[in-house]
Amino acid sequence: MEIDAAGLTMVQAYKLMTGIVVPRPIAWVTTLSKTGVVNLAPFSAFSFVSHDPPMVAISIGLKKGVIKDTGRNILDTGEFVVNIADQPLLQALHASATEFPPDVSEIEILGLETRDSVTVKPPRIAAAPVSLECVLHDCIEFGREPNRLMIGEVQRFYIRDGLVKDGKITTSELNPIARLGGPIYATLGEIITMPRMDYLVRQPSGG
Ligand SMILES: Cc1cc2nc3c(=O)[nH]c(=O)nc-3n(C[C@H](O)[C@H](O)[C@H](O)COP(=O)(O)O)c2cc1C
Repeated sequence: MEIDAAGLTMVQAYKLMTGIVVPRPIAWVTTLSKTGVVNLAPFSAFSFVSHDPPMVAISIGLKKGVIKDTGRNILDTGEFVVNIADQPLLQALHASATEFPPDVSEIEILGLETRDSVTVKPPRIAAAPVSLECVLHDCIEFGREPNRLMIGEVQRFYIRDGLVKDGKITTSELNPIARLGGPIYATLGEIITMPRMDYLVRQPSGG
């Protein structure tokens, strides 16, 4: 099967893209509105885009033709926190995508506890194993809808005690949830470690 992208409707393209780019990590983002309401929503168009300095990006679409609360808050305040949810937080994460009005805090409705961040005003989710305090670096618009790619520079990492060994995150203990299409999620499956290959001799380098 071959598909000419130019002939696709927005919905058709969305269904294909979200089924092909899988599994996607999920940024569970806390922001603060200008009036002080803490907002929480998940975004699976999420990746890291630089490590020096550490930067992450989320892509935010429109909701009924207007920018989502998260995007508006980030543009208004220049700050956000990316929380990483583990498997026990799946229900709360999924529920936080409900389209509540801007003056309603998902945090309060869901009864989630927060902790103050150190470098930014939006709080982090207390139960999340990892939270990244971010300052907006750039916002780039793509496409006709448009989608806004919000790039944040990480100011501070919160990582639950015990998750880092030899400077690396123990992924199995992080136990993150990922998104497939629509309301379908995935957890980590088998973790496979391959030997590092040396380019010249094509032998495992042992590194
Ligand atoms: C797991 C999951 C991932 C999502 N990822 C995105 C995304 O990458 N971009 C986006 O615009 N909306 C995404 N959504 C939808 C938003 O979370 C949803 O529109 C939410 O109501 C936005 O909240 P806000 O208006 O408080 O920012 C996702 C929803 C779920 C459940």
